[in-house]
Amino acid sequence: MPHKPFKAVIPAAGLGTRFLPATKAMPKEMLPVVDKPAIQYVVEEAVDAGIQDILIIIGRNKNNIANHFDSVPELESTLERKGDHDRLAEVKHASDLADIHMVRQGEPLGLGHAVWRAKGHVDDHPLAVLLGDDLIDERDDLLKTMLAEYDKREATVVALMEVDPAQIHLYGVASVEPTDDPDVVRVTGMVEKPNAADAPSNLAVIGRYVLPPEVFEILERTKPGKGGEIQLTDALQELAHDPARGVYGVVFRGRRYDTGDKLDYIKAIVQLAADREDLGPELRPWFKEFAATL
Ligand code: UTP
Repeated sequence: MPHKPFKAVIPAAGLGTRFLPATKAMPKEMLPVVDKPAIQYVVEEAVDAGIQDILIIIGRNKNNIANHFDSVPELESTLERKGDHDRLAEVKHASDLADIHMVRQGEPLGLGHAVWRAKGHVDDHPLAVLLGDDLIDERDDLLKTMLAEYDKREATVVALMEVDPAQIHLYGVASVEPTDDPDVVRVTGMVEKPNAADAPSNLAVIGRYVLPPEVFEILERTKPGKGGEIQLTDALQELAHDPARGVYGVVFRGRRYDTGDKLDYIKAIVQLAADREDLGPELRPWFKEFAATL
């Protein structure tokens, strides 16, 4: 039976402690990556995959995010007066992008709790959860593939990426079985932030999930887990054990940037700027010269 259209949910209510003090008064999702806040790339990704209805879960410092996606009449009229049409188009683009809604997560009780806060808005639609600090390069398809797999397999779909054993303790890690497709695996279980020795594989869950609306019932009764937080991983574990539905993983081999981590954030800016037509031609030779001095 065809399902209702997908809605997108972008949790952006975490404390961002890894990026203090920048995140003291600003959510990490608003940190600029070249010239756009990280969360705008994520909204654009959802829109590119065909999702128009987007819900952002906001925490303290909510105004930053809401303002970014609102129109700013005084800025727009100044740019118009100056005839600065390119910048005007950029400014308008953010507010015209999609149908953007906001819901508050009163306290940062965990990613699972943030997603559960979307229940009232998402209702019985399937949902794509995109973490607001996790950027997937727009040249690499991931979300579109995940939505297609959700429809094909009638199951939950997560994004997986091979990570170095030294980094595995930072992620949710999946135990998997192969399928007929080399880029898709069946997820048989999941552990949140395991030690390298206990990790069931080197496949880490990255910040994209396509979930059935039933996930809300599961989250409602999910108890705090690792770190005292309500973990989305624990709800996924339950879905993985449900023989009627199951969880599949799309193995992503493209470019991903974790902008919530200082080092990855710096790398993301350098890589994205070096590839841009307006900045790359000057940045690349400068960077080579700079690298030679290291
Ligand atoms: P992270 O664990 O990366 O976010 O959560 P954090 O807790 O803000 O980061 P650090 O470790 O303290 O630096 C993954 C995603 O889930 C959101 C975050 O905003 C991020 O997009 N999140 C997390 C919430 O929306 N609410 C929460 O209670 C926890």
